[in-house]
Amino acid sequence: MLPDDELCLCFHVTWRKVINYIRVHKVRVPSQLSECQNAGTGCGWCRPSLRRLVEKMQESEADPSQLESWLAERFPNRTKYHSARAKYIADGHGTPPSDSDSNAKYENKNSSEDNPPSC
Ligand code: FES
Repeated sequence: MLPDDELCLCFHVTWRKVINYIRVHKVRVPSQLSECQNAGTGCGWCRPSLRRLVEKMQESEADPSQLESWLAERFPNRTKYHSARAKYIADGHGTPPSDSDSNAKYENKNSSEDNPPSC
């Protein structure tokens, strides 16, 4: 994986954003990541990766200056990630949000000056 690849494809949340959120908010349980632009709250495909990422960050936190190599060592299956998610959806394991839902939630999370983005 590369840092700017999407980890949560439903809500377009990148690996970098989730890793930063885990670091800043000292996340201990994956369900806390729903506060990071709704990661994991759509089809469910990314939840095992979110769980593994929290575990890996607890083992050894990702050095921001070496994020690309840290990710590549721990999550090497970059090319299969998107196609495996498409099969997961096609097989009826989860339903992604409509484009308007995923974009509206993303925009709401990032547009309010009263509520600064949580990640
Ligand atoms: S890819 Fe994250 S919930 Fe669907």
